[in-house]
Amino acid sequence: MIPKRTFDAVIVGGGGAGLRAALQLARADLKVAVLSKVFPTRSHTVSAQGGITAALGNVTEDHWHWHMYDTVKGSDYLGDQDAIELMCRNAASAVYELEHMGLPFSRLEGGRNAGRIYQRPFGGQSQRYGGEQAVRTCAAADRTGHALLHTLYQRNIAARTQFFDEFFALDLVRDAEGYILGVVALEIETGEAWLIEARATLLATGGAARVFRHSTNALINTGDGLGMALRAGLPLEDMEFWQFHPTGIPEVGCLMTEACRGEGGYLVNRQGERFMPRYAPHAQDLASRDVVSRAIAEEIEAGRGCGEHGDHVCLKLDHLGAALIQERLPGIRDLSIRFAGVDPVHEAIPVTPTVHYMMGGIPTNLHGQVVAPVRYGPEEPVPGLYAAGECACVSVHGANRLGGNSLLDLVVFGRAAGEHMIEYLRENRYPRALPRSGVERALERLARWDRPGGDERVPRLREDMQRILQRHCGVYRREDLLEEGIGKLDAVGARLADAAIEDRGRLFNTARLEALELENLLPVARATLVCALARAESRGAHAREDYPARDDDHWLRHSLYFLAGDQLDYKPVRLKPLTVEPFQPKERSY
Ligand code: FUM
Repeated sequence: MIPKRTFDAVIVGGGGAGLRAALQLARADLKVAVLSKVFPTRSHTVSAQGGITAALGNVTEDHWHWHMYDTVKGSDYLGDQDAIELMCRNAASAVYELEHMGLPFSRLEGGRNAGRIYQRPFGGQSQRYGGEQAVRTCAAADRTGHALLHTLYQRNIAARTQFFDEFFALDLVRDAEGYILGVVALEIETGEAWLIEARATLLATGGAARVFRHSTNALINTGDGLGMALRAGLPLEDMEFWQFHPTGIPEVGCLMTEACRGEGGYLVNRQGERFMPRYAPHAQDLASRDVVSRAIAEEIEAGRGCGEHGDHVCLKLDHLGAALIQERLPGIRDLSIRFAGVDPVHEAIPVTPTVHYMMGGIPTNLHGQVVAPVRYGPEEPVPGLYAAGECACVSVHGANRLGGNSLLDLVVFGRAAGEHMIEYLRENRYPRALPRSGVERALERLARWDRPGGDERVPRLREDMQRILQRHCGVYRREDLLEEGIGKLDAVGARLADAAIEDRGRLFNTARLEALELENLLPVARATLVCALARAESRGAHAREDYPARDDDHWLRHSLYFLAGDQLDYKPVRLKPLTVEPFQPKERSY
């Protein structure tokens, strides 16, 4: 048997959602472990730039209900309105809580609100249900995620959360009655497997945008929690919805935050034309991301792209002046100089739509409990299993997320999950017997990569998968392209059986880690293509050339993908909020 450690709760993932949940548990004097495959402050939350959205009203008059309206509209009505109400209603208290923990927000200068939290306009934000632009996103310059993650980490250290740094979770341990009893994890430094037993387990493993070739995501975003959920027989929800952020540096993928446009920057095409007013006359450059990304794709397609190959547009900031850029967007200036070779104080930055965020994920309820349909009945919580953050689908973002709502989602639902886990642990005081088979299955995942194999190599397979997703499931999709993509991905999947790694050492074996990550990425890629092919409509980020209209009669519903048999199922969108009237689906324009 492998070495075992026992905790009340184990959190898989050291980003914003995991740390917010862990803090709730640790402050309740529970024994909580956080497993993170990197040092926690290197989790992808650290790279969030523009901010966290909450209707504080520090700059313009604002109300959480207007934020809710914008989020429902931004989601193209696929977001669940009870979850969206919960998030927007709790946004201000979540931000003040972070401020009181020590998050160093930028401050407003001058005026009656001098000294209060700085807020900037972001895409898709409005006052009074579609009226004037709201100024709603709270920021720490252009390093808000960095500030947030470090704040939460420090608070967890103070609360005595136990960290397992550089531990890679292999699989969930599930007993015959369906209870989740912890995880089997690989200690990367030693190559040793550990059983981390806990009565409650939270998956907070972040996104999976590394299924695509060009992404703003860290290399670590390989859908590890999603792979674990699928292998445990659980579904993934709405995997066809991937957000292309309009402004990534071509090829490299570095994010040029939406705050660039929030601070007054704008996009131009090859002719120097400011083109967004043609696509979104009211919101212009601050329309929602799906709208702006499609506009850029159309400009490029029409031959109005910039550069030698006409394959990007340009983001102009030079008119803002060096002082504002240095104060509000210092990280952007630095990234742009380093990765695009352009100083935005003087020149426009080349940008292109780049995969940024997964709207789908592991289905949860409002308490972060993972839910799955039971045979012939409605969905029910999986006992002992929770998910929060980007790997979860609660669903507050529906078919398209608004900028600044991701950090908010992390802290609101990270905390909600932590609170519910405390209750669950009180009601389930005693450990259950550990099933040997669950542990053995996880160990077999490791052993498979210790055996000699054929000629296939993991980096090559990963690159082929990424090229397929990029080519066959881009900003615009089409039936024939998606079908062809599935065929090609099948071939990559078949080659995996013949793959081997050359380094079979135990200590810090990154080749083995990449192989294990690929086993998580491939089913996520498959779920994406299968769901995208089935959804015969255009909604939010899912734009089908062959079905250009939204079709509420048939498709106002969530997709559920199951690995076994590649099966799809559907469930209704929750259109009824908790306490207010629903926002009825209507045509979306900006
Ligand atoms: O553009 C950005 O700063 C990204 C923010 C977000 O995805 O929420």
